[in-house]
Amino acid sequence: MKTYLLFLLLWFSLNLAISNQTLNNSIITKPGCPAKCGNLTVPYPFGIGLGSGCSIGQQFDMNCNTSFNPPKAFTSEGNLEVINISDSKIRVKNRVASECYNEFSALSNQSTVRFNLETTPYSLSNENVLTVLGCDYRSMVESQGRGRGCNAFCSCETSILKGLKSFLISLDRRSNQTEVVSFNKCGYSFLGEKDSYLFRFRDLSDPHIMEKISETVPLVLDWVIDNKNCTEAQQSNNFTCQRNSICLNSDTGLGYRCSCPSGFVGNPYLKPGCQDINECESNPCDDENEICSNTPGGYHCSCREGYFAGDRKYGVRGFVCLFQDGIYHERKIVMPIGYL
Ligand SMILES: *[C@@H]1O[C@H](CO)[C@@H](O)[C@H](O)[C@H]1NC(C)=O
Ligand SMILES: *[C@@H]1O[C@H](CO)[C@@H](O)[C@H](O)[C@H]1NC(C)=O
Ligand SMILES: *[C@@H]1O[C@H](CO)[C@@H](O)[C@H](O)[C@H]1NC(C)=O
Ligand SMILES: *[C@@H]1O[C@H](CO)[C@@H](O)[C@H](O)[C@H]1NC(C)=O
Ligand SMILES: *[C@@H]1O[C@H](CO)[C@@H](O)[C@H](O)[C@H]1NC(C)=O
Ligand SMILES: *[C@@H]1O[C@H](CO)[C@@H](O)[C@H](O)[C@H]1NC(C)=O
Ligand SMILES: *[C@@H]1O[C@H](CO)[C@@H](O)[C@H](O)[C@H]1NC(C)=O
Repeated sequence: MKTYLLFLLLWFSLNLAISNQTLNNSIITKPGCPAKCGNLTVPYPFGIGLGSGCSIGQQFDMNCNTSFNPPKAFTSEGNLEVINISDSKIRVKNRVASECYNEFSALSNQSTVRFNLETTPYSLSNENVLTVLGCDYRSMVESQGRGRGCNAFCSCETSILKGLKSFLISLDRRSNQTEVVSFNKCGYSFLGEKDSYLFRFRDLSDPHIMEKISETVPLVLDWVIDNKNCTEAQQSNNFTCQRNSICLNSDTGLGYRCSCPSGFVGNPYLKPGCQDINECESNPCDDENEICSNTPGGYHCSCREGYFAGDRKYGVRGFVCLFQDGIYHERKIVMPIGYL
């Protein structure tokens, strides 16, 4: 019995290994271009190397700096350190605004944070919140007259305007309470991914809190291709969505993205475009008397010759294949030859 179990486990893990390989083989970069900078996977339309031709355009180049171990990737414009790239967002390393007072309640030092993404494909995502740490501090996010504020005692979060391309985060103290200064000399403020920071009172006196937040709370940015919407881009001579892909308008009004519809895989920006998944390879039909037919984006199950679709009370998909005698023959578990 034990040997059987072991064989079955081996068989399953072998199958897992094969399906992982199929995923890894899907095209993510232009031919001849590296896919990774350190631990970061860089899929086309992004590309590694300034001016390397690996991306769709200079704005999407990633500068892979190998003097770090592991190497780190930075955006070509703005020099933001990239932590992760997904099909609609990138996460970048954050910066924190601060303001400190001395024991006499006089301003000791302060720093603001400015992000300028005007010449980049990026804008602020609605997955960020503004967090203020510190007793009696107030923080503002300002962007071309539009502003969002947050008052804190001793920590506060507020959801933030989506789509901003340029913003300044600043901080000031609302009053001059010396009793507060005795245990809380500094206030901090940052925009960053929702739910990635949990307030702890001891953070207020941690001298390394700014670095800790920069390391653990990423800033989430949305990215788009161009400044045209799908309709305009389709009419231009450089529309990039490849075969079988769908074009998605950015919900901030400027730019578009390409995506593979469900049932398809691949890189929608690169030839040959999105590839149909052959679902039948994973035997999705639940009866051995069914045959699977692959269709673009899906599959369907039907009864093999000599059988007909019978009573709806059997089977998870509402039918079961019955032999001509009209009797349901219990599904047999199919084992690989030699194991039972
Ligand atoms: C990066 O990869 C190395 C080696 O695979 C691993 O040891 C390290 O923990 C990874 N670092 C991060 C930040 O994921
Ligand atoms: C890599 O990073 C180091 C340290 O910050 C810096 O001195 C160097 O100029 C960077 N190299 C490139 C190619 O950007
Ligand atoms: C990066 O993002 C992808 C897609 O959202 C996710 O699957 C992956 O785990 C992330 N990697 C890291 C290191 O955060
Ligand atoms: C700012 O002032 C605080 C309190 O006086 C001090 O602890 C901190 O080290 C100072 N930071 C910088 C960057 O000078
Ligand atoms: C707070 O009061 C102290 C002492 O009266 C003064 O030196 C300091 O400038 C005040 N700070 C602010 C922010 O008003
Ligand atoms: C795309 O842009 C054109 C020109 O600005 C506009 O007329 C059209 O309504 C836009 N389409 C969508 C779906 O936003
Ligand atoms: C398409 O062409 C326009 C105008 O030449 C250019 O500004 C834009 O960057 C191009 N877009 C892509 C995705 O190549």
